[in-house]
Amino acid sequence: MNSRGHEMIKVKRLRHVTFTSADVEPQLDYYQSVIGLAVIGRDDRRIFLGTESDELTLVLEQGAASHLTTIAYEVAPHLDLADLQKPLASLDIKSEIRSDTAPGIAKALVFNDPDGLQIELFSRWEFCKPIEPIRGLAVAKLGHVALYTPDPERVAKFYGDVLGFRVSDRIEENFVFMRCGPEHHAMNFARGTEARLHHLAFELRDASHMHQACDLLGRKGFQILWGPVRHGPGHNVAVYHHNPDRYLIELYYSMDLMLDEELGYFEPRPWHHDRPQRPKTWVGLPRDVWGVGPAKEAHEFSPAMRGAK
Ligand SMILES: [Fe+2]
Repeated sequence: MNSRGHEMIKVKRLRHVTFTSADVEPQLDYYQSVIGLAVIGRDDRRIFLGTESDELTLVLEQGAASHLTTIAYEVAPHLDLADLQKPLASLDIKSEIRSDTAPGIAKALVFNDPDGLQIELFSRWEFCKPIEPIRGLAVAKLGHVALYTPDPERVAKFYGDVLGFRVSDRIEENFVFMRCGPEHHAMNFARGTEARLHHLAFELRDASHMHQACDLLGRKGFQILWGPVRHGPGHNVAVYHHNPDRYLIELYYSMDLMLDEELGYFEPRPWHHDRPQRPKTWVGLPRDVWGVGPAKEAHEFSPAMRGAK
């Protein structure tokens, strides 16, 4: 319950993201032939891409420039989206219910986060089968979205208070990791001069899939900018590259899981420094368990968000 007596919204799963691109074709080819998403449908301005599990994952929209515009999350299936407008209204957040925002999603509740990024929430949905063969890596799913923001604590408070995310870890004053399910993070907020994407992460199955990913990136001429590395916060094994729109893309597996919120610690793993491994603020370097640090190119900025404040 929030202070005005309304039930808080509780996001369950990160589901899909929408990007505009000035040059959609290279993006489409990249997501098909490297990431392993496939087209599930198109309309006059958008291409909808899904995973091998038939879940809508990414929307590409022709635009004047490249921007991350929208993040969509799933809420519990019994919820009526109109009821979710009340807690938003009590916080002076304007929202509207839209139909047919994407295939398989009849209705979505749409509003903006504090940095002007569009949030879409939906409850009931249907699987969408790709209409073409899956190629490339056939990633398991969209795993997390990391955003730059001028004020990580302010944005983290919004995602916590309004959307029900929990803080999993912090890095000093500069990075907040938040979960909406058992996985250590579905969202990260990093301190930056303005709102923009920090990186987008897709989940791989295991170490052999990571090996396959590095070989495919190498063969296709995508330079590996960081990793493979086992991170400290989240303890995922990760590798990073830039996609054709200069977005930093992470591929990872083996992320920490909080299987029981009441226990309050992550499922024990041999590589944890802390026993048990609880949410904390990480200070100083090195943070990663193994692997060398990022190439300087990994810190080059991705395109800013549309309407970024
Ligand atoms: Fe990440």
